[in-house]
Parts: sequence; structure tokens; C-alpha cells
Amino acid sequence: MPDTLPSPFHVALIMDGNGRWAKKRFLPRLLGHRAGIKALERTVRAAWKLGITHLSVYAFSTENWSRPETEVKGLMSLFRFSLRRKVEEIQRENVRIRFAGTRSGMPPDVLELMDWAEKTTAGNTGLTFIACLNYGGRREIVDAVNTLLAENRKSPVSEKDFAGRLYLPDVPDPDLIIRTSGEQRLSNFWLWEGAYSELYFTETLWPDFGPGDLEAAIEYFTGRERRYGSVR
Ligand code: IPE
Ligand code: IPE
Ligand code: MG
Repeated sequence: MPDTLPSPFHVALIMDGNGRWAKKRFLPRLLGHRAGIKALERTVRAAWKLGITHLSVYAFSTENWSRPETEVKGLMSLFRFSLRRKVEEIQRENVRIRFAGTRSGMPPDVLELMDWAEKTTAGNTGLTFIACLNYGGRREIVDAVNTLLAENRKSPVSEKDFAGRLYLPDVPDPDLIIRTSGEQRLSNFWLWEGAYSELYFTETLWPDFGPGDLEAAIEYFTGRERRYGSVR
């Protein structure tokens, strides 16, 4: 493993494969999601030790509302449960929790828990953990456009102006995006912010993911040469 990663270093995770993990075991999909929470806990714990300063995870997309009602309800309950139970632990580990996504359509009590978690951990100085909940990259871009329109500005918009209206303008762009379960697409994740992210795909289903997989992804990253359109 490399001794030092660049700082800040943002890893983004598309946690995919919970349903297939459950299916392989003849279990309901929701148990796959529950196992996914355990994998997330392992991963958050490992991230800071590896030198990751920002870890973002795709937990629920704006398209995931189209899943069966029981699954959507089950996922919302899981978010409720995790926020209530885990914030204390997060607090102990000096992790700051933030959220990216649109609030519209989210159950009001989940929004309240999100606000509470954000406020409670706002002063923490360790890992920044970003839960992308009801997140869609296209929606984020459209929301930024509407914010700009509401400002009634007369001058043209620069990339910097635009990036400043995204959900978390102070969070650095992801250096590395990892997707589990063998799918090789972004599914509407970090569309603007991921313009120059390295991409890493693994066959591992999300509930089986652990510190070893995270290390392998980082090792892959450190072997890449980032060119940003230039020659080196
Ligand atoms: C990812 O696992 C979790 C969420 C989208 C909430 P999936 O539920 O997409 O699992 P597969 O892709 O059906 O295996
Ligand atoms: C992406 O996974 C969204 C999350 C991980 C929350 P999906 O399983 O919903 O994406 P598709 O349907 O395979 O593109
Ligand atoms: Mg999936």
C-alpha cells in the first residue's frame, strides 16, 4: 500500500448488488440491503486509516423510487434505523456526516433525522462521510440551473459559478469512483463532479465488500496517471 495518498482524497462508492447477494441466498432483497449496511460500516472504518478524507456513497437514487413500494419503504426504514442508531458511533469516531440529494419526495421524519445527524456531527474533524440520498446527477445539475435563474444575474455563468451552486460546493471532486457487482455504468452518479474521476469496477457484490476491496481499488488508483486532458 502507498504510505500517503494525496490530501484531500475523495472516494465515491456505487454500492450495487444487494439484491443479487440476497437472491443467491434465497433471501428477500431487503436482507441484502441490511447486509449492505454492515459492509458500509466496515468500509467507513477502514477509509480513514487508508488516508481517505472524503467518502461518498450512493445510497438511493432519484430513479430508485420506481422500485416496488415494499422495497422503497424498507429502504426508508433502514435509513431511519441507521441514522437513529449509528450517529452516536459516528460521533465517537470523529466522522462528519453530510448529505447530497434533493429533499423533495423524502419522508419528513427522515429529513429531520438527516438534519439532526448533520448538525450533531458538524464539528467533527475526521473523515467526511457523504450519503447520497435521493440523489441524481441530472437533478443536481437542473437544481443548480434553477438556483442560478432565481438569482436574476446579468453576467454569463462560468464553470466556477456553476459548480458553486451544486449540492456540496466545498467538497472536492471524487478522485476515484468504485462500483461493485460487475456493472460498468455511472447510473446518474456525480455527473459533474466525476468528470475526471478514475473508475474502478469490481465483481464483488456490495454486501461482500470490505477493507481488502477498498485497498485493491486504491492500489489500482495509485497506478494510474491522471492527465486532465494534457500530455505528461
Ligand atoms: C444497490 O443494490 C442498493 C440500492 C440501489 C439501494 P441493488 O438493490 O441495486 O442490487 P441489485 O443490483 O438488484 O443486485
Ligand atoms: C445505482 O444502482 C444506485 C445506487 C447504488 C443507490 P442501481 O442498481 O439503482 O442502478 P441501475 O438500475 O443498475 O442502473
Ligand atoms: Mg442494482
